[in-house]
Amino acid sequence: MKIAFIGDIIGRPGREMLAKKLLHVRKEYGIDFVIANSENVSHGFGMIRKNADELLKAGVDFMTGGNHTWDKKEIISMFEDMPLIRPLNYPEGVPGSGYKVVEVCGEKLAIINVLGHYGMSMVENPFIATTRCVESLIEEGIKNIIIDFHAESTAEKRGLYMMLQGKISALFGTHTHIGTDDLSVELGTCYVSDVGLSGCRDNVIGMDKNAPIKRMMTGLPASFDIPKQCKKIMQLIVCEIIDGKCISAQKLRVFDDRETLVQEALYE
Ligand SMILES: [Fe+2]
Ligand SMILES: [Fe+2]
Repeated sequence: MKIAFIGDIIGRPGREMLAKKLLHVRKEYGIDFVIANSENVSHGFGMIRKNADELLKAGVDFMTGGNHTWDKKEIISMFEDMPLIRPLNYPEGVPGSGYKVVEVCGEKLAIINVLGHYGMSMVENPFIATTRCVESLIEEGIKNIIIDFHAESTAEKRGLYMMLQGKISALFGTHTHIGTDDLSVELGTCYVSDVGLSGCRDNVIGMDKNAPIKRMMTGLPASFDIPKQCKKIMQLIVCEIIDGKCISAQKLRVFDDRETLVQEALYE
């Protein structure tokens, strides 16, 4: 099966890029299933149902989240009837699920979403929670396992990857909104520290530069906004999986105003 993973989609510019480009990319690369991080889909904070429907129409099959999952209250009802998960390491009783098993090309595929520790809220240990979840999926006979590790620290991301290398199909980092250049495939596991954002590429992490600059210069709070106009990008990893092992991966950077850049993974 061929899976694509899209990092944090930031507001309307991100949704527009997917609506314009994703179906073409799906067709060109023969992608069977698209997973997208959706924590910033609605004006940069959380996701409402109307915007989730737009993503599904644009070619997304499954949505993950992060620390911004909870920003719009509507999300609670969406866990009931949408292909959507939230980070795994919240305490029992919190709405939604941290993983789901779906069927792709007649095979089972598990998707796990997990939140890092550094700079995040008081969640449970992501390393313990994730390794437990992976072990129980493997015991159930599930081979195809994809993780969205939503974390600030590249060290945490590489640490979890090292723990699970050879046991899972892919671990994709999200949250920083800045793509990293370390896409690799080792022991059948695809890894990148961060996929990077889809949305405005010429401001500050997809948000209008004025508020963060004001905050940095004065120390005073300033509310973030989506730029009115900007240059846009859609960033995704395309990963081919056979029998639970990733055998090839590319990073695609699809622009609104220039040719797509393709980066091949480093194979070890
Ligand atoms: Fe984000
Ligand atoms: Fe985040």
